[in-house]
Amino acid sequence: MKAAITATAKYLPDSILSNHDLEKILDTSDEWIRTRTGIRERRILRDPEKATSFLCTEVARRIIEKRGIAADEIDLIIVATMTPDMIFPSTACLVQRNVQATNAWAFDLSGACSGFLYALNTGAQFIVAGTHKKVLVIGGEKMSAVMDYTDRNTCVLFGDGAAGVLLEPARDEQHGLLDAKLQADGEGSEHLYMLGGGSRCPASQETVENGMHFLRQDGRQVFKSAVTQMADTAEEIMRRNGLSSEDIGYLVPHQANYRIIQATAERMGIDMRKVAVNIDRYGNTSAATIPICIAELDEEGKLPPGSNLVLVSFGAGYTWGGIYLKWQ
Ligand code: COA
Repeated sequence: MKAAITATAKYLPDSILSNHDLEKILDTSDEWIRTRTGIRERRILRDPEKATSFLCTEVARRIIEKRGIAADEIDLIIVATMTPDMIFPSTACLVQRNVQATNAWAFDLSGACSGFLYALNTGAQFIVAGTHKKVLVIGGEKMSAVMDYTDRNTCVLFGDGAAGVLLEPARDEQHGLLDAKLQADGEGSEHLYMLGGGSRCPASQETVENGMHFLRQDGRQVFKSAVTQMADTAEEIMRRNGLSSEDIGYLVPHQANYRIIQATAERMGIDMRKVAVNIDRYGNTSAATIPICIAELDEEGKLPPGSNLVLVSFGAGYTWGGIYLKWQ
């Protein structure tokens, strides 16, 4: 048995933070951000009372409504996030309570920007095993909560948002998730991280004073690895599934930098018109970028049954991977 996506939804906060807004608080320019990253604006969840669980709950509600199911039909909720409301309980448990998915178990998955692909493949295993019929997989982030808005190297890149999918048994063996290649290399952990707030550097006056509760990265280093791994993975997914560029309906890449997306498409020999891109509007929403792209393609009616999608990601860890699925 295969697992297929049977419903999608996204939720983006209304408030926009544009490059021009950032020009007012940082030594940066709209021109620099656009040409180096492809980003024009990003969304920010400004209400301090609301966190990642709010974004993910909205997504869960929309999926339940779209699919026309009752919340208690859901067997499992997985939330991929690196910005959970708190370290514990999991954000997935908060979503489970908010939508009253009373028969579901729930957990968070920490895979940074590859979190959604990790979670999608994990969720699919429960369908394939035949033990679960409905698995909700959501990627959601309030990246603004871990941004240092005095650090132009990082804060221009990220935004808030969430999206997700419902996984159910596919109609046949030829549809749904057909291949996955997921990888990790902890050697990359020193290039992209948040040191404070975990068991190594619990919150203290010192961690606050040293800005250790913010995301830090060596952008150039991460860029090089992202280009190599995303392109290599996409190429391998195509090769081992016998896919030519004409066979692919859409490449859905993680939205970290438009230049990384272009390099991946180029290696696959895919025209940019067949590449999902929304980095200009949302920036990098980490685990949410790929499901937001899928939800938008779905909303726009761009996924007829039988469409081949190749999803590829790269993120902190390092984590990366690719998934090949046929829309049903
Ligand atoms: N505005 C203006 N100048 C900026 C800037 C900003 N927002 N951010 C950095 N700069 C400056 C740097 O300070 C540097 O100046 P210097 O040469 O005087 O030191 C200069 O621009 C060039 O920096 P560089 O790092 O070479 O730029 P880049 O072309 O590599 O682009 C990133 C920087 C961060 C956009 C790019 O490396 C990137 O996208 N990396 C991957 C990030 C990523 O994907 N992270 C998430 C994991 S998936």
